[in-house]
Amino acid sequence: MPKSILISNVLPDQARAMIPKDYGVDYNDTDSPLPKAELIRRLRGKQALICHIISTIDEEVLAGAPDLKAVCNVAVGFNNIDVAACRKRGVVVTNTPDVLTETTADFAWALLMAAARRVVEADRFARSGQWSRWQWDLLWGYDVYGKTLGVVGFGRIGRALARRALGFSMRVLYHDTVRADAAAERELKATYMERDALLRESDFVSLHTLLIPETRHLIDERTLRLMKKTAILVNAARGPIVDEAALVRALKEGWIAGAGLDVFEEEPKIHPGLLSLTNVTLAPHIASASLDTRLAMATLAVRNCLAVLEGKPPITPVG
Ligand code: GLV
Repeated sequence: MPKSILISNVLPDQARAMIPKDYGVDYNDTDSPLPKAELIRRLRGKQALICHIISTIDEEVLAGAPDLKAVCNVAVGFNNIDVAACRKRGVVVTNTPDVLTETTADFAWALLMAAARRVVEADRFARSGQWSRWQWDLLWGYDVYGKTLGVVGFGRIGRALARRALGFSMRVLYHDTVRADAAAERELKATYMERDALLRESDFVSLHTLLIPETRHLIDERTLRLMKKTAILVNAARGPIVDEAALVRALKEGWIAGAGLDVFEEEPKIHPGLLSLTNVTLAPHIASASLDTRLAMATLAVRNCLAVLEGKPPITPVG
C-alpha cells in the first residue's frame, strides 16, 4: 500500500518538503480544526497523522482509522490524544519535546516579569494620553530579583525556568512527583518541597506539569488561598491545571496579587472575569511561538512520522 499521511492543519513548507514525493499527503492548510466527521473521513486509508493540539484524537477517531500507525503531535503536550487508546491499537504517539524548552521558558519568564512589573498596564497607560507628569506612585509592581520562585513540575521546561531564576539571584523551590537528582538540584540551586509548602513560601509560582487527571485544578480555591497575598501565578502549561473561576475570585479579592496566563480552560475562550481584570497578563497560547522553534517543532514531527512509516523507532515517542 502506498504510504499516506494526513496533515490536519497548517505546517511550514520546509517541514512538508521533507516528505518523500511518492508518499500521499492530504493537507489541510488552515489553522481551523477539522470537524470530527471530516477528520475521520480524511484519516481513512492513512498510516500517519501529523496534528496540532487543536485535533482531538480519541477512541472514536482511532476506530475510524484502522490503518493508522502514528499520531505525531506538533507540541510537547499531548492531552489532546488518548494515548492509552493509541497504545491498545498499536498506534505510536510522538510529541516535540526539547526543541521548544527554552522558548517556552522564555515566555513563562516574560509573563512573570510582565505581571510583576505591570508591563502591559504600563503600555496601555503610556498610549492612553493620560500620562501628564512624572508620578511617584505610578504603577508600582513587585520585585523579581532576589525573591522566591516556586516551580510546580520540574521537567525540562520547569528546569529551564529555574535556570533563568539563577540570573535573578532567586531562591528556587520545586515540586514534582519525582524528586530531581542531587546533581540537578545543585546545578539549579533548587530545593524540593511539598506542594502546599511551596505555595505558601513562593513569591512567584510557575506551573510546568502535564495535564493529567491528577493535575486538573491543581490550583483551586484551597491552593490559591495558601499562596501569599503578594504572590504571582504563571501558567504556560495547560489551562485546566488552574480552576479559572477560583483564580478570578483570587485576583479580584486579593488572595494573590497577579497572574500571567498563556493557557486557558476552554481555549480559545477566556473566562470573562479574567478579561476585565488588570492584574492579569493574558496571552493566546503562544509560549512556543518563535520562528525558529515552530519550524523545529514541525520538522521534528515530520521526522517522527517518517521514522514510524519507515519501520524505524520514533525519535521522541510519548510514554
Ligand atoms: C504547546 O502547548 C505544547 O504543548 O507544545
